[in-house]
Amino acid sequence: MKTTIAEVHKHLNEEVTIGAWLDNKRSSGKIAFLQLRDGTGFMQGVLVKSDVEEDIFNRGKNMTQESSMFITGTIVEDSRSSFGYEMQVKDIELIQEAVDYPITPKKHGTEFLMDHRHLWLRSKRQYAIMKIRDELIHATYNYFHENGFMKVDPPILTGSSAEGTTELFHTQYFDEEAYLSQSGQLYMEAAALAFNKVFSFGPTFRAEKSKTRRHLIEFWMIEPEMAFVDHDGSLEVQEEYVTYIVESVLKNCSLELEILDRDRAKLEAIKAPFPRISYDDAIELLHEQGFDDIEWGDDFGAPHETAIADHFEKPVFILNYPADIKAFYMKPVPGRPEVVLCADLIAPEGYGEIIGGSQRIDDLALMEERYKEHNLTGEAYEWYLELRKYGSIPHSGFGLGFERTVAWIAGVDHVRETIPFPRLLNRLYP
Ligand code: 4AD
Ligand code: MG
Repeated sequence: MKTTIAEVHKHLNEEVTIGAWLDNKRSSGKIAFLQLRDGTGFMQGVLVKSDVEEDIFNRGKNMTQESSMFITGTIVEDSRSSFGYEMQVKDIELIQEAVDYPITPKKHGTEFLMDHRHLWLRSKRQYAIMKIRDELIHATYNYFHENGFMKVDPPILTGSSAEGTTELFHTQYFDEEAYLSQSGQLYMEAAALAFNKVFSFGPTFRAEKSKTRRHLIEFWMIEPEMAFVDHDGSLEVQEEYVTYIVESVLKNCSLELEILDRDRAKLEAIKAPFPRISYDDAIELLHEQGFDDIEWGDDFGAPHETAIADHFEKPVFILNYPADIKAFYMKPVPGRPEVVLCADLIAPEGYGEIIGGSQRIDDLALMEERYKEHNLTGEAYEWYLELRKYGSIPHSGFGLGFERTVAWIAGVDHVRETIPFPRLLNRLYP
């Protein structure tokens, strides 16, 4: 019977065959402990010399790291392992012997591991992070589908910029110039006016010259957009959605959180509603903390965000930033046009901004004014203006940076480990 490590619990005391790789091993003259992995999990195989033919024992005992095999044996409970099961090995069929696998159990430097990312993904830590990433993908689809959102896929090749022109990836689109999408938002607004509540989940690209633990050049974003919903309504969806995905990881990824040594109590505290603080108050708070360098009108850097977040155990919304440091499409606060109806959601523990969201300008005349101020000319932006012309409505939306969210929930320091093949300032390989 062929099975996988993830399924062995269904085969207690049965003989099964698993396609696997050798992660690590330990042996004495009489017994060999094979640490197996098959991509669905990790399990120990125990090979006892007196129970098997001599050549099988030697095959196991001499096996090299990352050699591939079909391994056959009986599944038994093993209370000492966090996984709960082990295999009493009867037979091993070697598929390929791996010679000199570069990533040995000793410590390696980050650059070396990044150069070998195609192999590094096989490690237990990377497995745990990718499992949590997968759980968060699953939970995201569940949350939005359970709450009446339609998934809509915006284009990746675009003729316009959503978030400003300095961070665009340019490319040639036959004889026109095109860009890789920085955000699907403008298209998601069109979709919301067509389908009411919508969300996207796709790759976005920013040619940012930032080399920090929060920045990727290619990252994935979830962008919900909601018709007839004001900014307060959007904040409620944001905190409910984040609570939902954290709960699903706590429920379904216990083993992975344990592998990563993640403090569960910190995640258990993440429950809606989340605290809110205005940009004005945040500036004051920073001044009280001795950040004399920042003035009203400045954008926050990572140290500022961390200092604010440290006041709270939950993610915190910073509301109503100055219009001048935010995108052209944000709706002004009524009676206070210098600030806009927006919020950034800052994760605890120094993980920084995980969501940026706002209510969008729905007034045609005001949007035309913004076009002038921001020099948004040409036909690439015409269609977006028509959304304000034909049945304009109040609407709001947000973008959640997926890798930053994975990093925070998994408790991983740097976003480079939260995506299978990270694209960084100095890295397009592998
Ligand atoms: O705040 P941003 O730029 O917002 C938007 O793009 C809006 N159009 C979203 C919307 O309203 N539909 O980006 C959203 C989030 C940030 O909060 C951050 O988490 C993440 O995307 N992000 C990055 N993540 C990794 N690497 C980068 N270089 C990122 N830039 C932004
Ligand atoms: Mg932002």
